[in-house]
Amino acid sequence: MTYKIAVLPGDGVGPEVVAQAVKVLRWAEKATGHRIILTEYDAGGAAIDRSGTYLPEKTLSGCIESDCVLFGSVGGPKWDMLPGGQRPEQAVLKLRKELKLYANLRPARLYPEMAGSSPLRQEIVENGFDLLIVRELTGGIYFGEKGSEQTAEGVRAYDVEQYSEAEIRRIARVAFEAAVGRRGTLTSVDKANVLETSRLFRRIVDCVAEEYPQIAVKHMYVDNAAMQLVRNPGQFDVILTSNLFGDILSDEASVLTGSIGMLPSASMGGSAFGLYEPIHGSAPDIAGQDAANPLGSILSAAMLLRFSLSMDEAAEAVEEAVRQVLALGWRTADMMQPGADRIGTQEMGEQVIRALNKMIRRTVSRP
Ligand code: IPM
Ligand code: MG
Repeated sequence: MTYKIAVLPGDGVGPEVVAQAVKVLRWAEKATGHRIILTEYDAGGAAIDRSGTYLPEKTLSGCIESDCVLFGSVGGPKWDMLPGGQRPEQAVLKLRKELKLYANLRPARLYPEMAGSSPLRQEIVENGFDLLIVRELTGGIYFGEKGSEQTAEGVRAYDVEQYSEAEIRRIARVAFEAAVGRRGTLTSVDKANVLETSRLFRRIVDCVAEEYPQIAVKHMYVDNAAMQLVRNPGQFDVILTSNLFGDILSDEASVLTGSIGMLPSASMGGSAFGLYEPIHGSAPDIAGQDAANPLGSILSAAMLLRFSLSMDEAAEAVEEAVRQVLALGWRTADMMQPGADRIGTQEMGEQVIRALNKMIRRTVSRP
């Protein structure tokens, strides 16, 4: 098979971390014998500088013609003065919307060897945790009507939160299906004590739940969920939530794993096509210093291999390689802990490749 991947490195640390994920894709190409054609496209601030727009037509059509998209990160102080609708962040929002990627999967797993890097107390995280945030990605307040106007009290700005039954039903199904393949429990997070959209969310989730009698469903208010995540993250399996709540809770969950730099994500739309990106931003303060953690991007490449290229074994190997590299004590600056060895972005990528190559040799030489 030949696969086509659109690579959008973007801004800040994006190009540095994506370069390490690309090494992993090249490894997968060799390991599986399939061909992977990577084509780079501009997005975000880099695209604004080069062609005056955050998502050039060529980038969008390149993504549409590919089997999937590997995305870095966008944004930075250089473009902060642009009006909201022209900011680099619009690149990823428009891609999600145009490519109809309504389901965002954000797995947060604390490897026991990383427990020392988690800001949580040892007794809370000593057994690790493994949860999956299923975030609605093309609706809600991100895409509702927005604007600002002059009033007698000065400027008034608004963003409308809105959800339809159909939007809720399809994201709920994704979450229930994920729960079937995991530990069978689903926590639906909303603010149904205040918001009308949340009351609809809760009602539709309950309807979909009837199709999945084997799944234990719990509803939780978002303020409580934010608190429960730090009190006992081990209680969660699948978390289903709206666009805005998912954005916030995934940053919180990520740092509990030891560093925001570790978390991958997959944005899907009901087919094998997907967009894969670390959940972290462009981190302009450390860009170009070989200091960023590439593991979020590398683990995103693992999700890409699994969901878009059906290379399950290669995906598992990449995840196992990351585990081994962490167990060996290699850390980038964001996850340093006493006794660990600090390395840069490129070296972390190299360590993952080294672990992968060792694994292959072992598999090949097994009698
Ligand atoms: C994320 C990011 C984006 C979001 C930004 C860059 C628009 O924070 O993927 O979590 O809010 O969805
Ligand atoms: Mg975010």
